[in-house]
Amino acid sequence: MLPDRPLPGVLDLPSERKARGAFFTPVSVTRHLAEWALVDASDRVLEPSAGEAAFLAAAVDRLKELGADKPLVDGVEIHGPSAESARLIVGEAGGEAAIRVSDFFLVEAQARFDAVIGNPPFIRYQDWTGDQRDRARFAALDQGVALTGLASSWAAFVVHAAGFLKPGGRLGLVLPAELLSVNYAAPVRRFLLERFAHVELVVFDEQIFSDAEADTVLVKASGWGLRGTGAATLRQTRNAESLSSLDVGTSWLPLDTGDRWPALQLSDTTLRAVGNARGDGSFTPLSTWGETSLGAVTGGNRFFALSPERVRELAIPRRDLLRVSPPGSTHLRSLALTRDAISRLGRNGESTWLLYPSSNPAKATMEYIAQGHATGVDQAYKCRVRSPWWRVPVLAAPDLFLTYMNAATVQLATNEVEARHLNSVHGVYLKPEVRDLGRELLSVAALNSFTTLSAESVGRSYGGGILKMEPREADGWMVPSPEAISTRRDDLLAIRPTVRRLLQQKKLNQAVRLVDSVLLSAMTSSELESVRNDQAKLADRRVARGRSGRKLRRQP
Ligand SMILES: C[S@@+](CC[C@H](N)C(=O)[O-])C[C@H]1O[C@@H](n2cnc3c(N)ncnc32)[C@H](O)[C@@H]1O
Repeated sequence: MLPDRPLPGVLDLPSERKARGAFFTPVSVTRHLAEWALVDASDRVLEPSAGEAAFLAAAVDRLKELGADKPLVDGVEIHGPSAESARLIVGEAGGEAAIRVSDFFLVEAQARFDAVIGNPPFIRYQDWTGDQRDRARFAALDQGVALTGLASSWAAFVVHAAGFLKPGGRLGLVLPAELLSVNYAAPVRRFLLERFAHVELVVFDEQIFSDAEADTVLVKASGWGLRGTGAATLRQTRNAESLSSLDVGTSWLPLDTGDRWPALQLSDTTLRAVGNARGDGSFTPLSTWGETSLGAVTGGNRFFALSPERVRELAIPRRDLLRVSPPGSTHLRSLALTRDAISRLGRNGESTWLLYPSSNPAKATMEYIAQGHATGVDQAYKCRVRSPWWRVPVLAAPDLFLTYMNAATVQLATNEVEARHLNSVHGVYLKPEVRDLGRELLSVAALNSFTTLSAESVGRSYGGGILKMEPREADGWMVPSPEAISTRRDDLLAIRPTVRRLLQQKKLNQAVRLVDSVLLSAMTSSELESVRNDQAKLADRRVARGRSGRKLRRQP
């Protein structure tokens, strides 16, 4: 945490900077975007949230390289002292800056610039309110883009900034990676793909801002106002320093231009294999099997989740309890939560019971509730907001558990004991027509290389390199289809004991290879190798990001 006092050479307090979304961009990034966006000494450039002119200084260097004598560059900045220092910095770089001190959304868009480059403020909608936000949304509407009230500040910046470009102009921005995925950014994705001739994205393996909370992408959109192809190119690089050696990248064409964009670069061979697996119906999103739901939030697991020993001590009878999968997910890494497993967990002191008083609670149960009241459990937020505070809202027992916080990969486990789920795992409720098959074999079948690759792509990287998957993301997770599993049912049943043993021995990769031999036999060996390599590459990248992030980050 930075101290709330001006840092040396910096003009204002960290808290004020955070409120304005002021994080400054590394030189390797500003240089990269300036070199890409400016191609002629006479190019005119605007930086819409100029801060202390990081991009304009790079633009001056670039224009001088191209032969300009004393380049004139333009900027807009809401914070007067920053604008003043921007002028000085551009002057020192050998240029001249016209910096307007204003809210960018009060500046009317005029098509005067060959390039707009910059790093817009990332201010979340909760912190970005009132007139300022309304102005931003109106400015976006001028370009025909309707943003919802949930949009962060950067979204309107992208749209309004484009309005300053001459036809054919280039927009080069540093944006949060949520551009690729969040719903509120769908109109921005559509805008970019439809209103620019070409869009390129650069994603990073490591975080480029150590002090900001979000992962970042570079957007390089060229050919403003020319008819877009609807296609974009994705390039992936390690960090800001490796920007100078970008590879050719991969192109993709979303079905709908507002669709979520892939944040991942997959090889052509993998993409072909993915296309085939979708096309022949052997893989389907998990949502075709059923629904995935969050688990129960108790408000105090220590009070509500009880070990068998504790239950005996308190003399709480069975009618006031529900079977529960104990907090955590380590015990769900071997295909099923079985009767034996839950007894063993209970004997080891795990909390396999949930306090769930019946309509006629026993005296011992009432005493335990009174004890909770006396020790303030009823004051925990989740308890305070429900009535009675001691009744945890639970769903029916799911067919399968889904481990959503993972070091290696997302796993399913069949619920053989009718246990409820707490919020450390998700529950999957299968559709009646596939219920028996799914309970029998989906947890084994999902351990294949294609599905583990899909987990990296639909999930998100959480603090420390953990792969996290929310229920909505799980809906899109590609798993073997009911047809594919029924066709290979006998083979899958035959390997299931070995897969379980390998998992117990923590040999996940070997287990996956065994399942691949049954379910991915239609792939060529080079396709299979490519899918595995890409999965490993993405998992490594997630872990590398975890290491480079300084604190727990939540990607929206
Ligand atoms: C992420 S910083 C980027 C600064 C600089 N472009 C850089 O890359 O180093 C965002 C800047 O936007 C400014 N800003 C925030 N809201 C603004 C608005 N509505 N209009 C103009 N500038 C704004 C902040 O004061 C801050 O200097």
